[in-house]
Amino acid sequence: MKFTYYGHSSFAVEVKGKKIVFDPFISSNELARAIDVNRIEADYIFVSHGHADHVGDLMDLARTTGAQVVSNFEITEWVTKRGHANVHPMNTGGKWAFDFGTVKCTVAHHSSGLPDGSYGGNPVGFIFTTGEGNFHYSGDTALTFDMELIPRWAKLDYAVLPVGDNFTMGVDDAIIAAEFMECNKIVGVHYDTFGYIKIDKAEATRKFADAGLTLLLPAIGETIDI
Ligand code: NI
Ligand code: MN
Repeated sequence: MKFTYYGHSSFAVEVKGKKIVFDPFISSNELARAIDVNRIEADYIFVSHGHADHVGDLMDLARTTGAQVVSNFEITEWVTKRGHANVHPMNTGGKWAFDFGTVKCTVAHHSSGLPDGSYGGNPVGFIFTTGEGNFHYSGDTALTFDMELIPRWAKLDYAVLPVGDNFTMGVDDAIIAAEFMECNKIVGVHYDTFGYIKIDKAEATRKFADAGLTLLLPAIGETIDI
């Protein structure tokens, strides 16, 4: 599966020829200056929660691509009210069969207010089960025992977890999360963007390796095969 990192918690995967973008926050990210949002293609945009660092480019990207926005009910209502009708509402615990595979919404322990103060529902993560591989994007979350349920639902090839600490779990808890999820390949996101979440990448990579896990930290703009 092709995985492209756009910085912070923004990334895209390609499954069955569908381009699936997550948490678009690019044009306001100082570290992602090299990425031109207008050139990003999307058939789907998945949004984990309403915070500005996850929806910054959502409306523009939705409008220019016509992509279907998938998120919790409150966020899809917010998107619809702002003039983009192609949405699919979900909520925690639910799953849906899309044309590229099945997605199940997982629990995320975080908050979800939208940038204009609107109520953004509860934050979620997403488990993707596809013919081209399975992964979990946790969204912004603390470490939670709920992650121990994930192996009952999917055998993960990889997981995308925040590692920046302060607002979410950090490296040490992400290692425990990987163990709960029975997943040995982690893509780290949600780090370095702001002062609060700067990490020592070499130390983080070493800690994962010491736990028998692989931490991938692709460069912004890099596409990896995963
Ligand atoms: Ni957040
Ligand atoms: Mn965030």
